[in-house]
Amino acid sequence: MKCVVVTGSAGFIGFHVSRALLDRNETVVGVDNFNTYYYPGLKRARQEKLARSKNFVSMERDLADLNSVESLFQEFRPQIVCHLAAQAGVRYSLRNPVAYHQSNLAGFVNVIDQARRAEVERFVYASSSSVYGGNTKIPFSEDDRVDRPASLYGATKRANELIAYTYTQLWGMATIGLRLFTVYGPWGRPDMAYWSFLDRIVTGETIQVYNFGKHKRDFTYIDDIAQGVLAALSRPMNNSFELINLGNNRPVELMRFIERIEDLAGRKAVTEMVQVQPGDVLDTYADITKAREMLDFEPSVPFEAGIEKFVRWFMDHPQMIDEVRRFKKIRRQ
Ligand SMILES: NC(=O)c1ccc[n+]([C@@H]2O[C@H](COP(=O)([O-])OP(=O)(O)OC[C@H]3O[C@@H](n4cnc5c(N)ncnc54)[C@H](O)[C@@H]3O)[C@@H](O)[C@H]2O)c1
Repeated sequence: MKCVVVTGSAGFIGFHVSRALLDRNETVVGVDNFNTYYYPGLKRARQEKLARSKNFVSMERDLADLNSVESLFQEFRPQIVCHLAAQAGVRYSLRNPVAYHQSNLAGFVNVIDQARRAEVERFVYASSSSVYGGNTKIPFSEDDRVDRPASLYGATKRANELIAYTYTQLWGMATIGLRLFTVYGPWGRPDMAYWSFLDRIVTGETIQVYNFGKHKRDFTYIDDIAQGVLAALSRPMNNSFELINLGNNRPVELMRFIERIEDLAGRKAVTEMVQVQPGDVLDTYADITKAREMLDFEPSVPFEAGIEKFVRWFMDHPQMIDEVRRFKKIRRQ
């Protein structure tokens, strides 16, 4: 049994990855600062579910604070680090750049440096399809140029990859960056389009459909992503520095996505078609050849089935959804 530190364990992906690790009988130290970017009650609920396992240790820490990270590594001496904590969101990085500096740059350096000092066997971290910026050649492949991010969020994720590269070069540390493509599913993120679309369809509010619904996204179901992350944490690797796309390889037009939610919710959306927003990337679509080869990754949940699971979860949690709604109103998100 290994000790795995999972940062961002109260977040959407961290929660599912931690759950999958606990199912495999690993010991998980789950770290999160429960920040208020979206409703922290949802984060607390996820972490409480994890804490039902005797192999889960819950730690409330801000990773931007070096002393907190240092004491964490000294206390638990993990063998593996799965660093998923970050300030997520493309549009929010236009409004609050400092949050990205704190969590994605200061936090990242604190965690990777403590992981190096603790001589962990492997450091796996979440990068993003945002590193591909405004690239027009699709599908996006790991060999494509990534020096033109379209948002500060994308720039910090690319910076993480470059920092990881130097840690591999200087210290021989095994680092794997996973470029994740739009992840969705139960216990998902209220700031993401799939959540607000469903919520607005249910409440009858108008949905602003950016770029007239023509965006294509490689919506990837959370269980597929969790399997990919687990493979990155455990499969033997020849190289000590890797960057790997994790996506669905089947892009879906936003409008089709909305229509599927309409069918499942049994209501029509009220839509307002609007222009593309600054920082938005038109189409994202992953070439997953490398993930297939290295991680035996094969996304198995088509978006029609995945969205159904999300809608069912949403309908089964009316109180949580209501609390998220009220929080969003107060914050005018
Ligand atoms: N969900 C997606 O579609 C997607 C796509 C590409 C990349 N990613 C990346 O995957 C990772 C997980 O994303 P998610 O969707 O679960 O987001 P999330 O916001 O649900 O989870 C991130 C968690 O990190 C925590 N956190 C943030 N800053 C912290 C800090 N300084 N100290 C401690 N905890 C902190 C947050 O409280 C949150 O619980 C992130 O790195 C994100 O950038 C996600």
